[in-house]
Amino acid sequence: MKIIIRQANFHDIPQLLRLEESWPEGERATVEQLESRLTIYPEGYFVGSFSSAPDYIIAAFASSPISYTPDDMSQFTSWEEATNDGCYHPNCNKIPSDTLYLAASCVDIKHRGGTVYLDFMNQVLDSLKSRGVSLVISGNVLPGYDRYCKKNGEISAVDYVFKTHKNHPIDPFLKLLYQLGFVVPNEQHVIKDYYEDAPSRHYSTIIINDLSKR
Ligand SMILES: CC(C)(COP(=O)(O)OP(=O)(O)OC[C@H]1O[C@@H](n2cnc3c(N)ncnc32)[C@H](O)[C@@H]1OP(=O)(O)O)[C@@H](O)C(=O)NCCC(=O)NCCS
Repeated sequence: MKIIIRQANFHDIPQLLRLEESWPEGERATVEQLESRLTIYPEGYFVGSFSSAPDYIIAAFASSPISYTPDDMSQFTSWEEATNDGCYHPNCNKIPSDTLYLAASCVDIKHRGGTVYLDFMNQVLDSLKSRGVSLVISGNVLPGYDRYCKKNGEISAVDYVFKTHKNHPIDPFLKLLYQLGFVVPNEQHVIKDYYEDAPSRHYSTIIINDLSKR
């Protein structure tokens, strides 16, 4: 089924809250966070729907401008720090918007496991590229790490991140993100305690998508 995308607006808030129910309790964005994002940088907030039901939102992408220097990871100590507790830093819209930080992306729980996320994200990334955005950065959990160690023996988080099977990262989520063009540039981008997440043993990666390569 074809996915269509558009910029989100304040009228979408009830539907965005419904979509947030796809996140585990305690990780869902609040009305205040959604309002703040839509006030500070609505240009970075996209929603997706099936073309057959354009008024029913099934995916969302919330991002804001960030300054990024590849060898300075000091602003990436936690998701809360990078996103100002999910509200975006108030002056981020004053910095050049050629680099965006993806604070959250989500697909309705009923539409996971297929190609909805890839289709939606590819359209958003193409749209950002055509607008002059050159880099999209995000932080992600490593949901297969603890399970991998228990099954195969202990390895470091860095070794896990860069371990591949048939040229794909072994972590299922990282594999999905690599399919979209995100990469983990080096081991400095593997961060402990960025998100609390037991299956990831509290490790995350900061991933970079160079849109010029699309
Ligand atoms: C991330 C997301 C959009 C991917 O949707 P999708 O492409 O339909 O794919 P799935 O949900 O089937 O996830 C793909 C794989 O990654 C794993 N995965 C992805 N995100 C995960 C997460 N946050 N926690 C645990 N596992 C996750 C899934 O278990 C699955 O693994 P499997 O192939 O071994 O079953 C969707 O899982 C989602 O909306 N999650 C909640 C929000 C979220 O975590 N967003 C990402 C951080 S910004």
